[in-house]
Amino acid sequence: MPFGQFPARRMRRMRRDDFSRRLMREHTLTANDLIYPVFVLDGRNRREAVASMPGVERLSIDLLLPVAEDCVRLGIPALALFPVIDGSLKSLGAEEAYNPDGLVPRTLAALKSRFPELGLITDVALDPYTIHGQDGLVDETGYVMNDETVAVLARQAVAHARAGADVVAPSDMMDGRVAALRTALEDAGHIHTRILAYAAKYASSFYGPFRDAVGSAANLGKGNKYTYQMDPANGDEALWEVGMDLEEGADMVMVKPGMPYLDVIRRVKDAYGAPTYAYQVSGEYAMLKAAAQNGWLDERACVLEALLAFKRAGADGVLTYFARDAARYLDDRA
Ligand code: PBG
Repeated sequence: MPFGQFPARRMRRMRRDDFSRRLMREHTLTANDLIYPVFVLDGRNRREAVASMPGVERLSIDLLLPVAEDCVRLGIPALALFPVIDGSLKSLGAEEAYNPDGLVPRTLAALKSRFPELGLITDVALDPYTIHGQDGLVDETGYVMNDETVAVLARQAVAHARAGADVVAPSDMMDGRVAALRTALEDAGHIHTRILAYAAKYASSFYGPFRDAVGSAANLGKGNKYTYQMDPANGDEALWEVGMDLEEGADMVMVKPGMPYLDVIRRVKDAYGAPTYAYQVSGEYAMLKAAAQNGWLDERACVLEALLAFKRAGADGVLTYFARDAARYLDDRA
């Protein structure tokens, strides 16, 4: 809007120099905002690349230890563990999900004894353990049964807490699971175990590479998760879900996927003010990586921009496969 001979407000004045850009900067990204998801395998000295996620590997516990050490050194507060379960251990009843000597409990014990200060988050859902790749137990029609599944999830969460999980993260989207987990944890004496609820988890096509990584894609086949994960068309419903999970006892809530759902993150943060996390999922990682590998995007700049955008949208932290890269970039700058 011209005012006499000059614009009434020159927004570019504050943008002119680095010092004034830094002084008016509203949000910052630090290593404290990052959670690193990792894929763990049984056996020793095993390392497998995930084809659709360049730079991401499935690792056996012994090879995961140096990765955890790197995270501690970089100041990343927590890891999120995802197991790759051998086909022979998958079943209709998903019994392996609460085996106290299973892969997740053994991973927790190994990490906790060496890196007690590193937060450990476990995924509570049955998809790595079922022969059909669904997150719960199915009836004869293939429908995922809610209450029967919740009972198994509660046993899984207690097994994780007993083995050293600091945070259990139900990603299954069954109704009433947060309350059931909280009750089971309290009854078992795990009063400090935090619950990070995948509260607004959408039935997204951006999870494809993850399902390759944990080996559930083949089991799931043409199946989908529409009867329990949320419709990408809905925003109000996310607030409803988050509100219920908080009432049921969640300490932290998550919106997933990340970048296509920044509006949901903002609404959740504004409505509840609770610790809110975004999951930059496998498909988002794959997109950025593929473009960077083709020389079409500057990986470092785009990763830092995308992660900062989650902060601006209201997230307190981000689960991201770029966590170590980002922490390293941020370290270089200091
Ligand atoms: C399964 C689970 C999924 C992810 C985390 N936990 C996949 C799914 O719901 O099918 C996806 C993570 C990602 O895509 O990075 N309970």
